Amino acid sequence: MKLSVTGRATAAAVVAAVTLLTTSSIAGAAPARVAAAPNIPVANVKAHLAQLQSIATANGGNRAHGRTGYKASLDYVQAKLNAAGFTTTVQQFTSGGRTGYNLIADWPGGDTGQVVMAGSHLDSVTAGAGINDNGSGSAAVLEAALAVSRAQYQPTKHLRFAWWGAEELGMVGSRYYVSRLSTTDRSRISGYLNFDMIGSPNPGYFVYDDDPTIEKTFQAYYAGIGVSTEIETEGDGRSDHAPFDSAGIPVGGLFSGADYIKTAAQAAKWGGTAGLAFDRCYHSSCDTTSNINDTALDRNSDALAYAVWELSS
Ligand code: TRP
Ligand code: ZN
Repeated sequence: MKLSVTGRATAAAVVAAVTLLTTSSIAGAAPARVAAAPNIPVANVKAHLAQLQSIATANGGNRAHGRTGYKASLDYVQAKLNAAGFTTTVQQFTSGGRTGYNLIADWPGGDTGQVVMAGSHLDSVTAGAGINDNGSGSAAVLEAALAVSRAQYQPTKHLRFAWWGAEELGMVGSRYYVSRLSTTDRSRISGYLNFDMIGSPNPGYFVYDDDPTIEKTFQAYYAGIGVSTEIETEGDGRSDHAPFDSAGIPVGGLFSGADYIKTAAQAAKWGGTAGLAFDRCYHSSCDTTSNINDTALDRNSDALAYAVWELSS
C-alpha cells in the first residue's frame, strides 16, 4: 500500500513559495494559504529531554517498563498534550507480569478515514535514563504535536501521535496497539512514522526504506538543507514501525544510529568520528542528556514536523 500525497518538491521550495506569498500580500493580493511546516525549536526538545532525565534520576536511574520512571514519563507527556488541546488515551497492557502503557493523542479534526500517525517508544532499558534511546524520538514527537497546536494546524487528514510502552521488551506496546485495531480502523491509517534514536552523539542520517512516499518526503527535507542521507539498515524491523508494517500499513521513519560503527566515508560526509559507534552509550548507563548531538536532534525534529505537515495536508 502506498501513501498518496500532493507533494511539493523540497523544503526550500516551500520556503520560496511562502516568500512569494508574503510579497504578493504586501502588494495587496488575496493571501493564499500554504501550510508550511514550522521549524521546531531544538531548545524545546532539549527541555523535554532534561525533564525525562530528571524523571529517571528521581526513579532509580531509568524509565523502564514496569518501573515508576516509565509512568512518570507518560504523565509528563500526557499533561503537555492535554494542556495543548489533544484528546489523549492511555492504553494498558501487561508484559512480564507488569502493567505497561501506551499514550495516544488525537488532534481534533481532519478526515478520520485518513489518519497520519507519528510515534516513538517512551520506555528505556533498565541500565539507564534512555535519553537518546528513546527520549530523543519521544521529545521530538511531543514538540511536533505541540507545534501543531501552536499553529492550530487543520490538515485535510487526521493527526494522531503515539508513545509506546515496552518497546525494549520486543515492541510489546506497539504490537498490542496494532493487534487491537479493528480491520476498519487499521485501513484508516494512511501512514505510520517512527522515531527511535534521532539524536545519536556520533550521528548518521538514516531514512527508513519502506513506503516510498514517506521515504521521499524525508529525503526531500534533507535535500532542502543539503544533508545527504542513507537507507536505514541497522536491524530493519527493530522498532515500533514493524507491527504496523506487518499489518500492511505504510511506514517510514528516521534514525541516527545505535551500536554500528561509523565508516570513514560516513565521517567524511557527516562529520563525527570514524571507527566509533554512532551511539557508544547505546543501552548503557551513559545514555544521559550528555549523549545527544544537538544538530542531529534539531535536523531530525524539523524533518519530523515537515513530514507530518506534508503527509497530512
Ligand atoms: N529499537 C532499538 C532499541 O530501541 C534501536 C534500533 C536498532 C533501531 N536498530 C534500529 C531503531 C533501526 C530504529 C531503526 O533498542
Ligand atoms: Zn533501545
